[in-house]
Amino acid sequence: MKILGISGSPRAPEVSGIYKLVKIVLEATGMDYELISLKDKKINGCIACMGCVKDNICKVMDDMADLREKIIEADAFVIGAPNYYMGINALTRAFLERLYQFRHRTGTTLWGRLAVAVGVGGSSGLVCCEQIEQFMGYRFIETVAKVAGQGAASCYTCGYGETCQVGVPVMVHGEGVKITDDLIPDVTKQPKLIASAQKAGKLLKHRLTDDYDSWKVAEKLQKIMMEKFKSST
Ligand SMILES: Cc1cc2nc3c(=O)[nH]c(=O)nc-3n(C[C@H](O)[C@H](O)[C@H](O)COP(=O)(O)O)c2cc1C
Repeated sequence: MKILGISGSPRAPEVSGIYKLVKIVLEATGMDYELISLKDKKINGCIACMGCVKDNICKVMDDMADLREKIIEADAFVIGAPNYYMGINALTRAFLERLYQFRHRTGTTLWGRLAVAVGVGGSSGLVCCEQIEQFMGYRFIETVAKVAGQGAASCYTCGYGETCQVGVPVMVHGEGVKITDDLIPDVTKQPKLIASAQKAGKLLKHRLTDDYDSWKVAEKLQKIMMEKFKSST
């Protein structure tokens, strides 16, 4: 079994809280995985051309085309997005929108797979986890765990953080703040967050290996999504 990790942060893996947290979840599964950063990938949002209607294959030729086979081969996903304006960032959203290509007619490819949603924000990443779960639901993929934490806002490293009146360091710590390494939120130094990421990874492994039945999962998600659909119309 193979798990596909997607880090939707446009920042380099060395500084991205999302990348690090997704990796902790993947490592904790103890299973075969691949972790892909969307940084530097050119992926546009769905353009509703309906080119995928007949065969469930997106016809837009950008970097999403290379990811298609990896998505199909994966039994589960660990998807992480940074919080931009209280929602997932555009890059992750574009990636998730393009899963539309798997939805039509006989498009059962992703049904019943499992996922973990990871979100990081300067304040919190919970809203991102909820949005990722929603996207997964549309493909009848069950989100088995959510991992949300606080990461480093770019204001800590932009060079003006100690004096900028609208930057996170001054807003959180007040005038005269001195930015030291200890002050910068780091997902790898938060024991509770790491424990939550590891727990999510172990749960994902457990769900994948303990009597896993993708059709049962798909049926469950179909019911949930139909209820949501009805209540929103
Ligand atoms: C354009 C932009 C908008 C942001 N908006 C929010 C926000 O609304 N709420 C929040 O908590 N953090 C916000 N942030 C901070 C990021 O979520 C934070 O820096 C996070 O750690 C980024 O994850 P990364 O390290 O994986 O890139 C924003 C950052 C950027 C660049």
